[in-house]
Amino acid sequence: MWAERTSHFSLSGIREMFALTKPGAINLGLGQPDFDTPTHIKEAAKEALDKGYTGYTPNKGFPELIDAIASYYEQYGVQAGQEQIICTSGGSEALHLAFEALINPGDEVILPDPGFVAYAPLTHVAGGVPVSARVSADDDFRLQPDTVADRITDKTKALVINSPANPTGAVQRHNEMREFVELADDHDFYIISDEVYDKMLYRGKHVSPASIDPDRVIVVNSVSKTYAMTGWRLGYAIAPAAIVEEMLKVHQYIQACAPSISQKAAYAALTGPQESVRSMVDEFFARRSGVMHHLKGIADCVTPEGAFYVFPRFATSDTSFDLTMRLAQAGVIVVPGSAFGRFGEGHVRISYAASQQSIDLAFQIIREQVSAR
Ligand SMILES: Cc1ncc(COP(=O)(O)O)c(C=O)c1O
Repeated sequence: MWAERTSHFSLSGIREMFALTKPGAINLGLGQPDFDTPTHIKEAAKEALDKGYTGYTPNKGFPELIDAIASYYEQYGVQAGQEQIICTSGGSEALHLAFEALINPGDEVILPDPGFVAYAPLTHVAGGVPVSARVSADDDFRLQPDTVADRITDKTKALVINSPANPTGAVQRHNEMREFVELADDHDFYIISDEVYDKMLYRGKHVSPASIDPDRVIVVNSVSKTYAMTGWRLGYAIAPAAIVEEMLKVHQYIQACAPSISQKAAYAALTGPQESVRSMVDEFFARRSGVMHHLKGIADCVTPEGAFYVFPRFATSDTSFDLTMRLAQAGVIVVPGSAFGRFGEGHVRISYAASQQSIDLAFQIIREQVSAR
């Protein structure tokens, strides 16, 4: 009765788990910063309301916001003109548009596994076939060019890269990015580069593959994580002009434009003071050390180099879902690794977007639960 394409995926089992959660449980399952949007950004939104920016905007977004996005990406060596940028309703919509613009029925899309939960469903929505490329703890969860090369066929249309990564916190190296771009050039496919955690980085400098070959790459980003603005729903894509044109067609009919007030707020975020970003990242860095210390002796865990997640494997015979359920009943919410792909099994994702006090308390419970087995 319903369209076939939505039968290929389901709502995440995480909802089921929340239903069984003890009231007052500590939530280390969140995929958003536990910080408020900085004041100057909120003020810009209030001013936009007062000035009456309450109508539709140009479909691609306000030109000054597009210029601000272009300037922001210059720090990564990416030069983009107005015609190469589109503002969207969060990075989520930018991802959706990228898949819709690129994928024909039966086209294959190579995805990191474990990887962000939206990639496989969005591939299905576009009529494509997800092909999983394992990322392994042995490589610090960095996607390996050899693994990608093994998964390429004549149907490969796109490769998704996510650095820093959700759920592992892995950060790809420049030489790996270069090899991905070379593979894309040699085999004529595109790279969708999800860069929403570009500022949540604890080593080196963020590398966008668009700085290596802008003709092969669709960059997806948003103000959600960097400026603690997940609810404002403001993202963007940077891509070759011809692809942006196709993305715009879909965007125009499903969304019309990104929210006007959020665009004004995003402009203030990108062009205003950046201290709040630095202090948030410093805080995450300090918490990461605390979390790694707590994990010592109870789990194997790669030290993440970015984002605000750890992806440990506890010494237990439980499946990651069962362990997560047990922890939820004991008062700590984390996400089963299996939610991120079949190679996530055995792991759980713990977010440290929570206060140090909550993290310390949560780890007392986790320690009790995993030592009880
Ligand atoms: C890797 C990754 N990409 C994209 C998104 C989407 O973010 P938004 O739509 O808020 O920009 C998220 C959100 O959790 C994410 O973790």
